[in-house]
Formats: sequence, structure tokens, C-alpha cells
Amino acid sequence: MSATHAEPLHAEQTSAPLTRLDRRAIEDIVRSGRRLLVQGGMGIHASDGVSGKVAAHRGARLVGVGTISAVLKTPEQLRAEIRRARQESQGGFVGVNLMAAINKADFELLARVSIEERVSFLVQGAGISREILRWCREGGVPFAGIVSSGRLAAMYEKWGADFVVAEGAEAGGHIGDIGHPLPTLVREVLAATALPVVAAGGVDASDVARFVAGGAAGVQIATRFLACADGDVHPAFKAMHLGKTADDVAIITSCVKGMKARAVRNAFTEKLARGEAVPPRSKAWWFGKDGYMGRKKACVECLGDGLCVCRTSGYKESFCITDALLAAAVKGDTENGLFYTGQSLVRIGERDVTALPTAAALLADLEARLAAEDAAFEQAPAGASAVA
Ligand SMILES: Cc1cc2nc3c(=O)[nH]c(=O)nc-3n(C[C@H](O)[C@H](O)[C@H](O)COP(=O)(O)O)c2cc1C
Repeated sequence: MSATHAEPLHAEQTSAPLTRLDRRAIEDIVRSGRRLLVQGGMGIHASDGVSGKVAAHRGARLVGVGTISAVLKTPEQLRAEIRRARQESQGGFVGVNLMAAINKADFELLARVSIEERVSFLVQGAGISREILRWCREGGVPFAGIVSSGRLAAMYEKWGADFVVAEGAEAGGHIGDIGHPLPTLVREVLAATALPVVAAGGVDASDVARFVAGGAAGVQIATRFLACADGDVHPAFKAMHLGKTADDVAIITSCVKGMKARAVRNAFTEKLARGEAVPPRSKAWWFGKDGYMGRKKACVECLGDGLCVCRTSGYKESFCITDALLAAAVKGDTENGLFYTGQSLVRIGERDVTALPTAAALLADLEARLAAEDAAFEQAPAGASAVA
């Protein structure tokens, strides 16, 4: 890592490390007949407060794994969130999601905090940095890559990753190839790598058994954990996920490299559809007078050079993603917020925020369904394709 980050960030020694989720640990779990149930990391504080509760789950069929998102956290916020999850998980698996697309200095700093805290794994989404694998190797922290093709999975295997998360077009937030559904992708990735593969994107309780039977080491679920009783995300964000149909889902063009992203349709997505620009506003209300990482301007330059369509157009095109996602997750502003979601939101059954289950209850339900579906698979004719 760069010399600017060479000194310890905290004089105080970190507490006991989390349990390592490396390739061998996953293979042992699979050999024992269980699979991983990974909670996908969700940026801009959307998944805060959930990871430790998911990681506390150790069932007969599923081992819970929490993922904290480092995106738009100060080092102090990230460290506090890791420590909270560590305490709640009681020795479970808690990793950190980092995106190479975020400002390079922030990426390094937040990776360093995670490694200092000896998290169970680091998982890299949006963007590819090879350096992070070296930092993980040197720091003794397992590494996972999020992949949208077999080719990328094979590359990560060559680079020494411990596992991959195959994320299909049904996923939430930024999506890669919109025409690449998860069952097809999982088959492609399983054929391309010997690494454990976690299937992500649109998975709900009724899908878990078929991905497991198809050879996945586990599944990743994110959207469902937005709509649960735990979690710090604003109650209005949870409410935005209830009673929705396919017509309530919008695919927008993000300011991150002009990528496509999935969000709950609202006044803000309609504004984007009309081509309106939404320039950055001050974030002092959230980051305080010292700003984000000392950056006090309305644009805190959260994205890497050349990646932010908003910035490269002089704020004349697109929108400030930090403003829009913070407005949704922290303020619950249903007019001006951008509510990222996955396609599985249409399958969320509850209609009232007060009726939402806890993360522990969701996992207990998954265990029960998996037991029932396992029994159904055992009765299925031999040779039937598991990943339909
Ligand atoms: C609100 C929201 C924010 C997300 N933020 C991130 C992120 O910061 N980094 C990342 O790699 N994936 C992110 N994702 C993707 C999820 O981690 C997950 O892999 C994906 O949504 C598939 O699970 P799902 O279909 O159950 O949502 C986000 C998803 C949502 C819904």
C-alpha cells in the first residue's frame, strides 16, 4: 500500500480476529453437507447493522456469512461497523465489500482498516484491482471476487482468490450484463473454475436448493435483508420494498461509468429517465464539518478518476450518486433518494414495515424450506438438471 497509509491508523490493538473464510474453510463446510448463506454487502449504509446478525447463524444446512460494505464509510465508521458485527456474530464469518471503482486512496485506506481488523474475507465488486489480492495475501485475509463471467472467475483463481461470487443480471444496484441470468452464469462459472462459487442475484428462499444441488457452495442474498426488522437503513427504505410489482422496478443509467443499475421506480428515477441532471450537494449534514475523508466540497470525489459521468461532464449530465443513495438510505427521502434494489423485491411478501421478520427469523425460515426442498430433490428422478 502507499506510503501515506504505512503508519497504523489506530494505536490501540484490534480485538480478536474474525474466523477466516478461506477456500479450505468453505470446502470443509461443503463436505459437512452445509452451504454458505451470504448476505451481500450493500453500499452507502444500506446493509449496516445486518451483517453480524446473519453471521451469527449456524444451522444444520446453512452457515451465515455477513458482508459489510466499506463504500462511503470513513475509516472510523468502517472500523466501528466491523467491531459491531464481530460482537454480534459470536465468532462467525464477517467480510468487507470494497469496490475498486471508488477513489483509489479511499480504496486502499478502507482495505487497510479491514485487514487490520482481520475480517473473515475481503470481496471485490465493481472494478478490478489486482493489488488488493496482494494486500490480502500479505495481511493473511482471504479474498473473493465478484464475477459476471467464467473468464473472470478463471482469472481470479489464477490470481489466488479463495472463492468467487457469481452475480447475475437479477442483482441489485449496479448490474453488469443485463442479459446474463443467474442460472446460466452459475453453470458457466462452475465450468470455468475449481474455486467455491456463491450464486447471487434474485435468489430467494425457494431458489436456494436448486443452486446448491447444481454445485454452488452457497448463495448470496441482499435485497431481502433490506426488508428486515434489523438493520440501520431508514424505515422508508424498507417500506419502498413492500408491495411492489415488476412495474415498480426501473433500470437507470448510473453516473458510475454509465453502468446500468436497478432501483425502485420513484420521482427520482423518473427525473433521470427525462435526462435531468442532479449536481452534487453538500454532505456536511452526514459527514460533519470535516467532510468525507477531509473533502468538504459538494463533490467528495468518491469515484475513481474518469469513472464519474457527473464529474467528467462538469455536473451538466447525470447525478451525484452519493447524494442520491444517502438521501434514500439515511434520510428515507422517497422523492429525491435513489433506492437501489434487486429483482427479488417483487417476491417480498410482507406489506407493513412493522411486520418485517428479523434476519435471524429469515435464516430460520430458509433452513426450514431447505430441509423441505432437500427432501423433494431426493425424490426427483436421477440425472435431472438441478440448475434449471
Ligand atoms: C441497495 C443495494 C446496494 C448494493 N451495494 C453493493 C455494493 O456496494 N457493492 C457490491 O459489490 N454489491 C452491491 N450490491 C449487490 C448485492 O450485494 C448483491 O450481490 C446483489 O444484489 C444480489 O443479491 P439480491 O438479488 O438478493 O439483491 C447492492 C445491492 C443493493 C440492493
